[in-house]
Amino acid sequence: MPPVQPPLRAVPRNPVPGPHNRQAEDEPARLHCLLDEPGMQFTTSGRAAILLGLEALGLAPTDRVLVPSYHCPTMVSPALALGQPVGFYPIDASGRPSIEWLEQHAPADTRVLCAAHYFGLPLDLRPVKAWCDARGVLMLEDCAHAMFGQGPGGPVGALGDVVIASLPKFFATQEGGLLRLRDARHPAPALRRAGAVAELKAWFDTLEISASHDRLGHWGWWARPLLAAKHAVRRAPAPAPAPAAPAAPEGFDPAGNYARIDMALSHRAPCGVTVDTAVHSTRGRVTARRRHHYQALVAAVSGRAGVRALFPELPAQAAPYVMPLWVDQPDPAYRSLRERGVPVSRWDWLWPGVPDMAGDQGKTWSHHVLQVHCHQDMTDEDRDWVIGSVLALCER
Ligand SMILES: Cc1ncc(COP(=O)(O)O)c(C=O)c1O
Repeated sequence: MPPVQPPLRAVPRNPVPGPHNRQAEDEPARLHCLLDEPGMQFTTSGRAAILLGLEALGLAPTDRVLVPSYHCPTMVSPALALGQPVGFYPIDASGRPSIEWLEQHAPADTRVLCAAHYFGLPLDLRPVKAWCDARGVLMLEDCAHAMFGQGPGGPVGALGDVVIASLPKFFATQEGGLLRLRDARHPAPALRRAGAVAELKAWFDTLEISASHDRLGHWGWWARPLLAAKHAVRRAPAPAPAPAAPAAPEGFDPAGNYARIDMALSHRAPCGVTVDTAVHSTRGRVTARRRHHYQALVAAVSGRAGVRALFPELPAQAAPYVMPLWVDQPDPAYRSLRERGVPVSRWDWLWPGVPDMAGDQGKTWSHHVLQVHCHQDMTDEDRDWVIGSVLALCER
């Protein structure tokens, strides 16, 4: 008998801003971090970094960008926004591009291949890079899920001709990405500075979100009067805490907001508070708490019917973004989880036109794999509530 659903609980969906992000470390920061890599440029998002990276490569209009069949739409839309032809390749059971398929089927006009370290578990991309080099293809290493760590192929970000990452997936920022271009012939783009209004708004948003989760801590003595003054000026009541998770939207519209690339925002530098938060977050807590939650999630689903951890072994040098959970019958469980505010995601919005490819795991994952959040600002009680909700709705 599956367990009964625990009562509702507000669990933060993302890392929460506040002074706790800079607290003294009780865990050593031992994992490689992309923030320390020389030549990293801050952008406003991961998708902006993809766009800027592709722009800097100076592609011909006919140069094709290959993306994996398992993707977030924001991995596809930057190439389309630049007018590049896009193609899809299959992934194997480890999430790596299928070299066999690439050898046999990659279109001759392929110029860039985007490969992602899904879920924050570093892949060995050396064979993929070797294939790219042999074909004169540039590799875009998508580290949006992998800010930290290293695998058998070396540190994440070590191989890509273009490397991108996303800050809010690991740090308590509301925007932000990273971009590095390996070849000096492709210089990093010059970005417009954020204006004073954007800077101020970013600070207030940070404080509002922190306050809504009661994490202002010792910032409270100056932040609370500031927030009160802001609400008085606007004559608006203080906003109620945001619901933990929006319900899963109905369907994917490639022309809709979710996948839209904001060209102006993509060519702007992130706000000061974004960079400051990312750079000064103490990292041992971020990586250790994520590993701790991941392992607890794996243990909780082990031996249960109808659910399993897609990758039960957490590599020693990884800081997970999420725990990928295979669910035999994910519908309507996923929708119910989102409605309850459980911090889970699913990439069920594949870009229209992803073909069926032999041996591909991408389409299967996009249906069966739930990405269970395991970030540092979830308490053990939050995580246990997530587990209770998942088991109540997904176990068979
Ligand atoms: C693998 C991957 N790449 C790129 C992106 C885009 O990152 P951002 O949301 O910072 O634009 C995402 C976002 O979910 C992602 O999951």
